Amino acid sequence: MTRTLGVCYYPEHWPEEVWPEDARRMAETGLTWVRIGEFAWSRLEPTEGDYRFDWLDRAIEVLGAAGLKVILGTPTATPPRWVVTKHPDMLALDAEGRPRGFGSRRHYCFSHRGYLAECRRIVTKLAERYGRNSHVAAWQTDNEYGCHDTTISYSDAARTAFRDWCAQRYQSPEALNRAWGNVFWSMEYASFDEIDLPNLTVTEANPAHVMAFRRFASDQVVAFNRAQTEILRRHTDAPLIHNYMGRVTEFDHFDVGQDLDIASWDSYPMGFLMDRVEGDAAHKAAYLRQGDPDFQAFHHDLYRAVGRGRWWIMEQQPGPVNWAPWNPAPLPGMVRLWAWEAFAHGAEAVCFFRWRQAPFAQEQMHAGLLRPDSVAAPGLGEAAQVAAEIADAPEVGTARAEVALIFDYPSAWAWQVQPQGADFDYVRLVFSAYRALRARGLSVDVIAPETPLDGYRLVLAPGMFAMPDGLKARLAALEGIALVGPRTASKTAEFSIPVPLPPALPGLDVTVARVESLPPGEERPVAGGGAVAHWVEHLEGSAEVGLCLATGEALVMGRGGLRYLGGWPTAALWDRILAGACAELGLATEVLPDGLRLRDTPSERFVFNYAAHPQTYRDHTLPPAGVLRLPRRG
Ligand code: GAL
Repeated sequence: MTRTLGVCYYPEHWPEEVWPEDARRMAETGLTWVRIGEFAWSRLEPTEGDYRFDWLDRAIEVLGAAGLKVILGTPTATPPRWVVTKHPDMLALDAEGRPRGFGSRRHYCFSHRGYLAECRRIVTKLAERYGRNSHVAAWQTDNEYGCHDTTISYSDAARTAFRDWCAQRYQSPEALNRAWGNVFWSMEYASFDEIDLPNLTVTEANPAHVMAFRRFASDQVVAFNRAQTEILRRHTDAPLIHNYMGRVTEFDHFDVGQDLDIASWDSYPMGFLMDRVEGDAAHKAAYLRQGDPDFQAFHHDLYRAVGRGRWWIMEQQPGPVNWAPWNPAPLPGMVRLWAWEAFAHGAEAVCFFRWRQAPFAQEQMHAGLLRPDSVAAPGLGEAAQVAAEIADAPEVGTARAEVALIFDYPSAWAWQVQPQGADFDYVRLVFSAYRALRARGLSVDVIAPETPLDGYRLVLAPGMFAMPDGLKARLAALEGIALVGPRTASKTAEFSIPVPLPPALPGLDVTVARVESLPPGEERPVAGGGAVAHWVEHLEGSAEVGLCLATGEALVMGRGGLRYLGGWPTAALWDRILAGACAELGLATEVLPDGLRLRDTPSERFVFNYAAHPQTYRDHTLPPAGVLRLPRRG
């Protein structure tokens, strides 16, 4: 399989006369893919049953004739006004019970049966018409599930569906009462019809109730997506894809991914640095025009796992975006660097968002590869450069890492349901470990909890709220080092504290006797250097003590390769712990200069310079935004 580039295009935004010239320029730039259609419902069916596919037929023909392959999006993220008029109760309700109205996008509740039927109908029509079209080489379902906080809805439709979901899961109200501990505060139910959604309660709702609702909300996304893939599969053999997002964890992407062939995600490094990555002012200033040096890579590795090895960038930032609090322009070379970094992590395709900047509506300040007047914007030249470069380096691939980091979506929900410390965030915790590994030059695989661990030397499982016994046993049997914690296995799947107390790892006599969350600025120093922040646990037991707090209390305890970590390490402590583990295992690490990052493929080592100044790797100097490719040794 070869590395390819593409672009997102909206033929319905432009006069038909410009389509051939657009298509010609796309092909000339070296693009392979063009994604279309995902917001076009009002032009495909302006009123109920009045289908207008003629323009889409022609658009696909024009693009295909230029040699481009089409990714056709199902338009279900933007139901037109008449659909909402027909189903006024299809809108999601927020936690205050207010409808999230028409006039932008994603204005639907995943649980609404009437809306689901409309989606099935339009997807069937598209699949019947284009499923065998030779130019349509891939499909995208909907657009960015969960974007704009749309996974969760407190509508009547959601409540009805949740009651049904509870009946399926628990079988009897008594079993549900027992599982949730509803005897506390007399919250017991006599029938599933008495159960409401966990909003608008006087004080916090039962965390078990909220957790069940979060599982339900995730399952609704899975079912909604599956309704589309079942239809598409009947009409096409082309791969089915969804475009996921950065730092969106409200539904289980591994579950959605089971019904798709390829995972993709939408990468906006500079917008994310501004509004989605923790970091002090100095960090944000240093990477203002490049994006965080680890945030993209983390998602590349995560979505490679979601796609079971196959993944794309469906939308790549090409210039300033419109949606972050401030929107500077990327440093020259960054658009190229971002694309190459994705390829180094195994991407099959990188598609830029979007072809031409739209002069109208919400995203008129969002750059494209072309300006609104069709003159090339700076991103176009970089796209063309990457196209020329991949022609000489076509092979898709990334090395299998020796280090694995377990990622578990329900744990992200669990610590939102019950953070215990206001800034305890699951992604933040996992990402802090990932960042420390990368800063040591390591390639990392992010893996699902069910992924076999064979071949991994070092496996990390931070913050996984409920850990199945099977995974505990696999970690205990790892030939290497398994580092578990903090807060891992501290709840049952139904959200109560297990007894025997956590972490209850096989053969390891360690008990978390008490936990503390720490406000910002409060750190507990560790003997020998580094500290813990946010979270610290008091450990008991007879296992060997690896690291201690300055007070002498145990922080890391273990037996053989199985270790439990009872706190949230600062960057310095993560480095100490991970470098120590790698040294024990004989895994080579190196301390990289700020902003320099590595990723290995089977044949090459890629070096990326995210710094705004030159950096040196071995004997090579990389300019800002530089990409270096070295043959892999050994
Ligand atoms: C994505 C979305 C696109 C566009 C883009 C702007 O989240 O899928 O439709 O809105 O952001 O950056």
